[in-house]
Amino acid sequence: MREGQTTVIRREDYAAPAYWIDSVELTFDLDPAKTRVLNKMRLRRNPEVAAQALKLDGEELNLARVLVNGQGTSFKTEGDQLVLENLPTVTDAFDLEIFTTCAPEKNSKLMGLYVSQGTFFTQCEAEGFRRITYFLDRPDVMASYTVTLRADKKKYPVLLSNGNLVEQGDLDGGRHYAKWVDPHKKPCYLFALVAGQLVAREQRIKARNGREHLLQVYVRPGDLDKTEHAMNSLMASIAWDEARFKLPLDLDRFMIVATSDFNMGAMENKGLNVFNTKFVLASQATATDVDYANIESVVGHEYFHNWTGNRVTCRDWFQLSLKEGLTVFRDQEFSMDLAGEASARAVKRIEDVRVLRTAQFPEDAGPMAHPVRPDSYIEINNFYTVTVYEKGSEVVRMQQTLTSREGFAKGMALYFQRHDGQAVTCDDFAQAIADANPSSELARLLPQFKRWYSQAGTPQVAARGHYDAAAQRYTLTLTQSCPPTPGQAEKLPFVIPVALGLLYADGLEIPGSARTVVLSDAQTEVVFEGVASEPVPSLLRGFSAPVVLRYDYSDAELLTLLAHDSDPFNRWEAGQRLALKRALATIASGATEQPLDAAYLDAMRAVLRHPQLDAAFKELVLTLPSETYIAEQLEVVDPQRVHAVREAMRGQLALELREDWAWAYEQHHDTGAYRPDAVSSGRRALAGLALAMLCLAARETGDVVWPGKTYQRFKDAGNMTDRFNALAALVQSGHALARDALQRFHALFKNEALVLDKWFALQAGASDRGGDVLPAVKQLMKHPDFTLKNPNRARSLIFSYCSANPGAFHRADAAGYVYWSERVLELDALNPQVAARLARALDRWKKLAEPYRHAAREAIARVAAKPDLSNDVREVVSRALAEE
Ligand code: TRP
Ligand code: ZN
Repeated sequence: MREGQTTVIRREDYAAPAYWIDSVELTFDLDPAKTRVLNKMRLRRNPEVAAQALKLDGEELNLARVLVNGQGTSFKTEGDQLVLENLPTVTDAFDLEIFTTCAPEKNSKLMGLYVSQGTFFTQCEAEGFRRITYFLDRPDVMASYTVTLRADKKKYPVLLSNGNLVEQGDLDGGRHYAKWVDPHKKPCYLFALVAGQLVAREQRIKARNGREHLLQVYVRPGDLDKTEHAMNSLMASIAWDEARFKLPLDLDRFMIVATSDFNMGAMENKGLNVFNTKFVLASQATATDVDYANIESVVGHEYFHNWTGNRVTCRDWFQLSLKEGLTVFRDQEFSMDLAGEASARAVKRIEDVRVLRTAQFPEDAGPMAHPVRPDSYIEINNFYTVTVYEKGSEVVRMQQTLTSREGFAKGMALYFQRHDGQAVTCDDFAQAIADANPSSELARLLPQFKRWYSQAGTPQVAARGHYDAAAQRYTLTLTQSCPPTPGQAEKLPFVIPVALGLLYADGLEIPGSARTVVLSDAQTEVVFEGVASEPVPSLLRGFSAPVVLRYDYSDAELLTLLAHDSDPFNRWEAGQRLALKRALATIASGATEQPLDAAYLDAMRAVLRHPQLDAAFKELVLTLPSETYIAEQLEVVDPQRVHAVREAMRGQLALELREDWAWAYEQHHDTGAYRPDAVSSGRRALAGLALAMLCLAARETGDVVWPGKTYQRFKDAGNMTDRFNALAALVQSGHALARDALQRFHALFKNEALVLDKWFALQAGASDRGGDVLPAVKQLMKHPDFTLKNPNRARSLIFSYCSANPGAFHRADAAGYVYWSERVLELDALNPQVAARLARALDRWKKLAEPYRHAAREAIARVAAKPDLSNDVREVVSRALAEE
């Protein structure tokens, strides 16, 4: 089907491939300007499919030769495909040899084979392999790979590919070669090669089963001292997967390679993971606690893909969440298990839910809404989304909730027993989990449960309580609904596990009240007997389902939950609800002064000063809901009003608690020798928030002591977390010292690309004062360190402004939107995948108040009017403009 010249791919059109490719022998003569690729394949007709032509995918390739069983053959090209019609009709195997060339140094899309700082890298997921050679570029075609790399020995001393190194040696003319054999069959999206000047941190380990492995983390020569944490994270990942799921490493050698030019976070190529440097390199001087935590979780994520994604892969790209949702679930569990005790686990859970609610819920409510398993797409790159990843993870988590932790582990074992080595669907996964737990709620409700895979939109659960004092009975009524999404007007009820408990008003939990209620009807009643007085319900504990929970809590009830709930997630949630109520009331009132009352401030003071609560948890409670989250609660959004009200709340919290903040800073700022563990990073986070608040308060009081102390801390800090927090406190409070501090910071780190990214991001994300951020961003575009070509740098400046700074981006004069449209078009010519991400910054334009709404629509229309847009950007902007 064609829309103009863009093809819509539909899930229902899936057909098995007409041919299988059993083995591939690739020989590369690597040269940045012209790389030669010889591809020798052994193919076989799929006997289960009617005989037909072989259509191979290719993109931006120069085709030189095609041989079938060593003989020249006729072929034609249809669009990007190479079509071979006169193939042997018998189902015997035959050889196909294809010789092509490509130009890696001209590849600015960073898909296929490209050059980054003089080193060759590949990125094949989802459809990049076709930019390297002609192939059946689909995940259900799995082949054995033998790869020979040839290159100049001086310029490219290290030659890597998947699997085992079986041969290497010198060639004429200063060249050398290396031959790699991957012992596992794989889809082509897991192919990788790397060639360049790299050094490796190495570690030999012995697994539980006695097998020995070589682990390597490859980086550029100056970066070796920043690889210890990544290596530790890799070893922890291997140990965790063995312990929790009995899944061992299946390779002699496992390699991670870092590159500074990468479209995403990292890639799970078999045995040769390629990472964005952001998720590998760390030293206490250059990386924050958040960076350390991200490295741990991304290293884990890619490693866990080795089983969930590589050993069992996706039948087609609609099944992406089969590997991504499950692997995010696994990396979240990994980080939680490493965090240790209950409070640190809850902190991780809260952070994950915050991402879901501020990024995925808006996606589910906007023009790009799609089910966890989408039904159609134009460009698959646009579906590596928070819905497929984070909501997908919640869908897996609910399966664990409905089968228990042990039951879920049994289900995983059955999944691998059934499907190891196969390309399968989300149905196969859920079926295995259910079949291993025949008496579970999941097994009982499986077809209905699977609506989580097919229905888009965020379900809402409305709760009402009725207390009958005479009968000592409490009745909770839970009603579910789901708003329509583009192309899906009607929604059927979901299976929703709601973990809950009841508290008495004094905070005591009612014995026996805690349970998980599984909703499957539109309305469910839960009756509690023997309830002595009107209780406070603690609902959706641990965020047991990815839904919006509506319950008309009074302040008194929320204060009870905040102070006493046994579920730390709901304690935090109660604090967020208290803040949200005040934000929404103030926004509605039209006034901005003093949004916070004494009850709220006293509660926050009590949390801050609490003798038992952890610092990390306190920091989360004392951080107000984001502008994006507040905006999502409104029908019509005036972003400037949201910004002004939240700033007023922050100012008040800073000023009225200033003595408490000073106390908190003094108590927590010293964390001793740097270690990125949960306890000390929690202390640094709270000390950082305290400094930010003290600098903010100083604006009102004229205090010079705290800004001075902050500046001193910025200069003396022994680690990047403390240094950056101090810098951010000065910048965000708009203090005069910020200028000098920013300059010093740049001078100190001018050779550290990842730190410069922080420097750009901080300025682009600064709290707007009279429209001053956009001019600063435009000025920074001219900075010698800025380049649009490097995705990390582009994201640090442009995305930080357009997607992460609503108060500065949504300008009444529309200049933010004009800037956005120019950057989308500029980026699209270089790197459509990155451009399409930026294009999504205006997804929620229909919610905006005037004059923003009209101006945003115009900006999107301006982008859409460009004739030669990429499919990536076209899909995003045409969905944004579609009338639903
Ligand atoms: N599979 C990768 C992950 O989630 C995602 C990824 C990395 C990717 N690079 C990409 C997806 C490029 C699309 C395009 O771990
Ligand atoms: Zn992944």
